Amino acid sequence: MPLRHFLTLDDLTATELDRLLRRASELRELHRAGTLHQPLRGRVLGMIFEKSSTRTRVSFEAGMAQLGGAAIFLSPRDSQLGRGEPIEDTAQVLSRMVDAVMIRTFAHDNVERFAAVSRVPVINGLTDDHHPCQLLADLQTWREHRGEPAGRRVAWLGDGNNVCRSWMQAAALLGFELRIGCPEGYEPPDLAGATGVRHVPDPAEAVRGADLVVTDVWASMGMEDEQKARLAAFRDYQVNAGLMGLAAPDALFMHCLPAHRGEEVTAEVIDGPQSVVFDEAENRLHAQKALLELLLLGE
Ligand code: CP
Ligand code: NVA
Repeated sequence: MPLRHFLTLDDLTATELDRLLRRASELRELHRAGTLHQPLRGRVLGMIFEKSSTRTRVSFEAGMAQLGGAAIFLSPRDSQLGRGEPIEDTAQVLSRMVDAVMIRTFAHDNVERFAAVSRVPVINGLTDDHHPCQLLADLQTWREHRGEPAGRRVAWLGDGNNVCRSWMQAAALLGFELRIGCPEGYEPPDLAGATGVRHVPDPAEAVRGADLVVTDVWASMGMEDEQKARLAAFRDYQVNAGLMGLAAPDALFMHCLPAHRGEEVTAEVIDGPQSVVFDEAENRLHAQKALLELLLLGE
């Protein structure tokens, strides 16, 4: 089986993505029925976390256990990575011992360097530039609630961050429109020429008629110093009942979590009937199990 990595959503074709999302929904049903499904018996996933995590860690660890395998958690505090061992050396060593590696780190270049010398599949569990695993879960959730995304419209409100950039790749792959409602200066860097994507600086215009409204924290991990400036810059981009009221009447609300109620979203919206944030969180488990099947078994 050819070695393949999952560093951004673009590592999948549209057909593979479609198949993976369907498989994720099947795996959810198997899990809910309590059916034992263990095609990864004896396989091990190494997980390197240079940033905090609740969902990503638990979904990969539980997912590997449910598929019959195991996962090992490594942080810079307790591995030699934190004491300056080169990424390439770590990659060579780990990939002789485990069957796949998931990495959450800062510079996207770190996962690319790791993958360049790895003998086993490398999965991006979030970098400063992309969060492709989140998109698998979000797209699964959207399909499960509303059917096919093609031809629909998504409004992204707030920072043009890692999750936003993965939404941009999803728009091109699945053929939906993405309106990015963010202030000047906070647009994603690769906006120019992106298929199906428009920067709409006015938040009301960005949200008007949208089928899905998505937001995320205004200061991502690693941007703690910018917190105050960002609170001011994004003030008008809070997803509240007023803005949601401009979207389509059956619009859904998504947030990858963790969320800050009263900042990027009001409690009324995130805890309200249009919000599917906990389905998104649950689907991290099912979507990543489908991803592990694809990367490790080729199916
Ligand atoms: N959404 C997400 O990736 O959550 P964690 O930071 O808890 O993993
Ligand atoms: N954009 C956020 C997502 C957290 C899951 C961050 O990078 O901190």
